[in-house]
Amino acid sequence: MEYPLPDGMSAEQFLADYWQKKPLLIKGAFPAFTTPLSPDEIAGMACEEGIESRLVIENRSTSPVAENSEQLPWQLRHGPFDETLFSELPQSHWTLLIQEVQKYVPALAQLLESFRFIPSWRIDDIMVSYSPDGGSVGPHVDQYDVFLLQGLGRKRWQISSAEVYDDDLIGGIDLQILSRFEAEQCWELEEGDMLYLPPGIIHHGVALGDSLTYSVGFRAPAECDMITSFVDYLAEEQRLSVSHYRDPELMLQPHAGEITPAALQRVREIIQRMPLNDDDIAHWFGRVVTESKSGDHVEPQLKPLTVEAFMARFRQGETLWRCELSRFACINQPSSVLLFVAGEMFTLEQIMKDAIYRLCDQRIHSAEEWRELLEVDGNAALLCHLYNEGHLYFDDDSD
Ligand code: SIN
Ligand code: CO
Repeated sequence: MEYPLPDGMSAEQFLADYWQKKPLLIKGAFPAFTTPLSPDEIAGMACEEGIESRLVIENRSTSPVAENSEQLPWQLRHGPFDETLFSELPQSHWTLLIQEVQKYVPALAQLLESFRFIPSWRIDDIMVSYSPDGGSVGPHVDQYDVFLLQGLGRKRWQISSAEVYDDDLIGGIDLQILSRFEAEQCWELEEGDMLYLPPGIIHHGVALGDSLTYSVGFRAPAECDMITSFVDYLAEEQRLSVSHYRDPELMLQPHAGEITPAALQRVREIIQRMPLNDDDIAHWFGRVVTESKSGDHVEPQLKPLTVEAFMARFRQGETLWRCELSRFACINQPSSVLLFVAGEMFTLEQIMKDAIYRLCDQRIHSAEEWRELLEVDGNAALLCHLYNEGHLYFDDDSD
């Protein structure tokens, strides 16, 4: 498998030396890259309901620290936008951003397959940004890893590994932009070049003429959110004890108003009795990481196919695609394999393991690749079920 890494660098080396550790410039990561989206198409998407879009405008006539000035140094607006907006915008110094573009553009979903050197459940989405000359989103840090792929034109990226403090941020705006920073490194990225940044690195990308950047962003849930989500899951599954607080060994205490160390110890013991077993963790985690981020989900087929009818279409040579609204992941266990699709869990037999790995590793499937796998009991029925539920579709379903 070819990965978009510098010549001679293996995926193992990237993970050991760079992933979550330090930035890496990858010249010609995607040689002869041609953007599947044009600036006009991006502007069109920004006007659509249900697509998350933002516009960041830099106002250069204001000092970045002038909190009380009438016009703020940076302005953030959320879509959907009216088409007339684009004729009113200045010639330069703004950026339009669209989130989750892999959902709408199959070629971008396929681009994610090049990142198989990182587990796919770690991937969040692809965001695209379009900027005319001078456009940027200001110097900032992100809490997640990102690969910034230059899709059209050129962009100058300046980065720094310096610490960021709250008072480094420009006040009074809805964006976390630094008022100043000193660049440690500076690169000009051209089409097909890519910059990897771990979390916490200050970065500032400025368009040199019309520019389009694809950001492959990774997910890094906050630990507090993971813990609350896990406890919610345990409660929903009725895995938490419904016994009540008891203290049959209560001793007379001099101050009735005091919560004693013995009482706090009983509380601690209740919390410590929270079940923390491997199955609960696996079932909860597989479900949450495959749930749709924005809550949108697939529609089941109006006319479900029988396994025979489904197989006839598949064997005729139709390509089967995974729907980008549904995330797939699996957990291999000694006696079964857990398949997670869009937050739903299927407990399947070990003999289906290879089929499940193929389903979770790849977006596009042909009957030819599945020939041997389809001889295994249960595999055809699984594909057919996922198809009928809308998680898989044939190339020409929409015709
Ligand atoms: C950009 O595409 O210019 C901004 C992306 C980022 O800084 O995360
Ligand atoms: Co960023």
